[in-house]
Amino acid sequence: MNDETLESAQELAAVLQDVRRHLLWQEETGGRALLVDAQVAAELRQQQRAASSMRAMLPRAKPAESAPARAMAPAEPPRATPSAPPPAEPPRAAPPASSSPRAPARPPPSAGMLVDVPQQPARAAASLPGVVEGERPTLDQIRRELGDCKRCKLCSGRKNIVFGSGNPRAELVFVGEGPGENEDLQGVPFVGAAGELLTKMIEAMGFRRDDVYICNVVKCRPPGNRNPEPEEIAACEPFLRSQLLALQPKVIVALGKFAAQTLLRDSTPITRMRGTWRMYEGVQLMPTFHPAYLLRNAAEKRKAWEDLQQVMKLFGKLPGSRA
Ligand code: URA
Repeated sequence: MNDETLESAQELAAVLQDVRRHLLWQEETGGRALLVDAQVAAELRQQQRAASSMRAMLPRAKPAESAPARAMAPAEPPRATPSAPPPAEPPRAAPPASSSPRAPARPPPSAGMLVDVPQQPARAAASLPGVVEGERPTLDQIRRELGDCKRCKLCSGRKNIVFGSGNPRAELVFVGEGPGENEDLQGVPFVGAAGELLTKMIEAMGFRRDDVYICNVVKCRPPGNRNPEPEEIAACEPFLRSQLLALQPKVIVALGKFAAQTLLRDSTPITRMRGTWRMYEGVQLMPTFHPAYLLRNAAEKRKAWEDLQQVMKLFGKLPGSRA
């Protein structure tokens, strides 16, 4: 791959980012809705596919340089900023009165196995749950649409649906696999041991947990913390896609193979995908290891930290860079 091709790929990625931000700005200022113009959407998708395949050919295209804040990009809308420092853990839903029997430890997410990603065509935005054609959904609308979900068999064993938590205006979104025992009890993602590590990772990146948004591929706990099955992923994935459409973050961090392979519809092992920028519907996505995997494979933390540093760089959060 020569320098010229690398530069073209980077320029294309930057232009795509600009177009997305511009359309979003138009939508927010009452102009043409982002989702209304199907032709624009189709063109964008085609450009993204071209960019993705060019990127896939590159050894390591780094978007930090390729997607700087541009003059044409509108100012970001104000983000919610809690006035007091957040508590060590975010507020949680009260656990139900009945306590559940102790579940077996969650099997570590494997770094090498493939997810059987359902091969469905990309959905038109309007067919996503909670999405009205031409309108950007809100997280509340999507949660209402999810309701007391019985779309797959995970509903039978759950205590709580774990929809997601955090800043609805977050620029940075973390997507995990599915709730474990603690998350199921509290209705909040990543509150167990893996959650503690994730919180540390977020803080080490220079964010507070309240600044970001955290959700999972499946919203109900797989029994015994087994891996989610393809039908379960297929039933829940549209809600994840709707959430990401509502959030429209600057960056998505996909934690582990289930998040990365599902969002990208790419069965490449996480060991190979991690650390390389990808595009998800016009949003930059960084695949990295799942915190539960890191708890059991501490030697891999260094690689995960390298991945997160790439994200920090994009936010201007590396030491010595502009904040
Ligand atoms: N692991 C996940 O993938 N998600 C959670 O919410 C908790 C653990």
